[in-house]
Amino acid sequence: MSLIETINLPILSDERGSLSFAEASSHIPFPIKRIFYITNTPENGNRGFHAHKATHQVLFCLHGSVLIKLDDGINKSEFLLSKPNVGLLIRNKIWHSMENFTKDCVFLSVASTHYSEKDYIRNYDDFLNFITKK
Ligand code: TYD
Repeated sequence: MSLIETINLPILSDERGSLSFAEASSHIPFPIKRIFYITNTPENGNRGFHAHKATHQVLFCLHGSVLIKLDDGINKSEFLLSKPNVGLLIRNKIWHSMENFTKDCVFLSVASTHYSEKDYIRNYDDFLNFITKK
């Protein structure tokens, strides 16, 4: 089973550039509580390797590319994020990592919760326990 759920945003391109937009609760399937972004990534750097208990996110790569790996405890999938108008939905309780960042990557996440360290599961065995006990 593929865990990949992409969100294609409108893209309006002309000689002035390309404009995309996203609205909460329509393009983004939850009310947005937070955004965060990652820049200045070393070539082939990796981040993430955690799951969230409650947070849903949509990930975007506005420039460059990054490989997103997803794991629900049974199935694994991966998706190369490389287009500024294509987002990847990561629901809660999905182990995920962002890998092979290009040096020029501009990575954006829109999230359904405010930041809380208590929402993170950072150990893979804890993740497997969490999803099987629920
Ligand atoms: P983290 O999500 O752990 O990033 P990664 O898994 O890629 O290493 O975040 C790194 C640090 O940034 C962490 O110590 C907490 C802080 N942080 C916030 O304060 N607010 C946020 O919204 C996020 C995403 C991270």
